[in-house]
Amino acid sequence: MSSTDPPLRVTRRRLLAGAGALVAAGALDSHAAAADAGRAAPPPAVSPGRQPPGLPARQHAWEATLASDRHGNPVAPRFDRLLFFDVRGRATAAHARLLEAGLRTLERAFPWGPEGLLFTAGWGNAYFSRVLGVASPIQRAHGLSQFELPSIDDYHLCLHLACDDEQRLAAVEAALVDGVPLPGADGWLALSDALVWRETRTGFVGAGLPAAHQRVGGIPPHGPVARSAPMFMGFQSSLRRNQASEDSITIRSGPFAQGTTMAVSYIRLRLDGWYERLDERGRVARMYSPQTTPADLARITTDAPSQPGQIEEAGSRYGVIGHAQSTARARRHGRPLILRRDFDTVDGGHAGVHFVSLQRTLDDFVTTRNAMNAVAEQQQHARIADTFNNGINDFISVLRRANYILPSRAARSFPLLLAG
Ligand code: HEM
Repeated sequence: MSSTDPPLRVTRRRLLAGAGALVAAGALDSHAAAADAGRAAPPPAVSPGRQPPGLPARQHAWEATLASDRHGNPVAPRFDRLLFFDVRGRATAAHARLLEAGLRTLERAFPWGPEGLLFTAGWGNAYFSRVLGVASPIQRAHGLSQFELPSIDDYHLCLHLACDDEQRLAAVEAALVDGVPLPGADGWLALSDALVWRETRTGFVGAGLPAAHQRVGGIPPHGPVARSAPMFMGFQSSLRRNQASEDSITIRSGPFAQGTTMAVSYIRLRLDGWYERLDERGRVARMYSPQTTPADLARITTDAPSQPGQIEEAGSRYGVIGHAQSTARARRHGRPLILRRDFDTVDGGHAGVHFVSLQRTLDDFVTTRNAMNAVAEQQQHARIADTFNNGINDFISVLRRANYILPSRAARSFPLLLAG
């Protein structure tokens, strides 16, 4: 759809009534025409299908399904995949029904949880402004530090898939993108009549996985990532009290009530200096705070306090500030503003992080990233610069950024397309 096409508004009644000529699941179009984003033919009329009862209204409600470690921290799904799409042609009720049918087929095929499948559908600015021709409810992403020059993605839709079975994620992607039959699924899955696939990003998090994937660019060749490390940098992220709660990041009212916002950053890691110039003490100082020792770390269970109130002393006495220390200044009612669902990646043969962050408003993400940049500390302390002695900023570079809004489960397919 060009930006000059009028947006098509349909009512919810028309949407549901329009599935008269049902197309049998499995009669799939070839994915070969996927590049033709502007194709005019509307998608086939597909029944949205049955939705299993009892699913949470919030797409981002994952935590109740997660196992806990021995301290009560939720254990993230071990594998993640981000699928990015554009809307094919001009958005219609048939597009919405087809996507909803695919997502409901997944919900019927797999229990909601890491042993089955978790997913969210998030919509970018370009979907609202270019596809629907309405004001976007979220701001476009932009660079958030002086030492980055990220590309800004303009994808319409991001599907975030996660579970403990990497093969399952690959099979789900093949079904959604290429129409490959998915064992055990009993309904429509292929999205290519409504959506043009643009990109996939993959990754993992959890003990053993980073060590098994460490023979890539960005990590020194001698295999420094410990077998027990849950992430490439060697520490456990996402302790319970260092995360916002799902409830606190939920939008309360309006068309996106029960939804949230999502920032997706593609971060490249350069860990040569991390593992070759720094010892354990130096890494703990930069990840947590210079006032935190490796012995302290062994006692941390659900909260890495990281002394945010002692950041001034960190700069003046130690000449280094910690990542958790600087970001912990961006809290509200004693809790962080963002819920991090990031994971490591070796996409492109290089170590990286797909930083998926959920928050009630994208301003909360910007506030947190500003705290991480620690601009004031750079001005106050000669030994601290933007990427020197400043948390983990020397070891990461942001390649891409994008913002999305995650509607409620009920409104997840082509939000705002339905007029009533
Ligand atoms: C890319 C590599 C990153 C790694 C390996 C990393 C790792 C960590 C670790 C180990 C902690 C402390 C413990 C915990 O999370 O439970 C932490 C805390 C935190 N990080 Fe990161 N982080 C990264 C990037 C970022 C980015 C890009 C942001 C935000 C823009 C961020 C925001 C935070 C916040 C908000 C906290 C909690 C602060 C608090 O306790 O209030 N992190 N991170």
